[in-house]
Amino acid sequence: MKRVIKLRVNGDEYEVLTETHKTLLEVLREDLGLTGTKRGCDLGACGACTVLMDGKPHLSCLTLALNARGKEILTIEGLSQNGDLHPLQRAFIEKGAIQCGFCTPGMILTAKAFLDERPHPSEAEVKGAISGNLCRCTGYTKIVEAILTAAEKK
Ligand code: FES
Ligand code: FES
Repeated sequence: MKRVIKLRVNGDEYEVLTETHKTLLEVLREDLGLTGTKRGCDLGACGACTVLMDGKPHLSCLTLALNARGKEILTIEGLSQNGDLHPLQRAFIEKGAIQCGFCTPGMILTAKAFLDERPHPSEAEVKGAISGNLCRCTGYTKIVEAILTAAEKK
């Protein structure tokens, strides 16, 4: 069954006619063309699909788009401001925390929500914060360094 759903994504209002069973991940990627949010496992296990809803990380593969109505959704496309990369995005580049990049949008959004709540974290806290986001390339060391660097610069 199809239905018109209103979503607020990256500060923009969208009205999308879509199947009611679709996940937020599917609507973002397939209906809105926001492919920065990645589909990894589609099972809630990898964190690649993480977006922020009202500032908190959510797995968009496990969230029905219908249930995202009325929330402020932030995807990686909405993180830079006026063409300036977010400090986390800059730190990931500077520290070489990106290889294939598949985990990066979810990792950065998880880190953003974490640093918003905990601006001066310890290394152990950073590791705990990103424990739900899997990376198959980097070994995590550079990612943790990048998040700590972004925290210092804040
Ligand atoms: S794609 Fe959502 S947790 Fe892996
Ligand atoms: S950079 Fe490839 S999965 Fe993380």
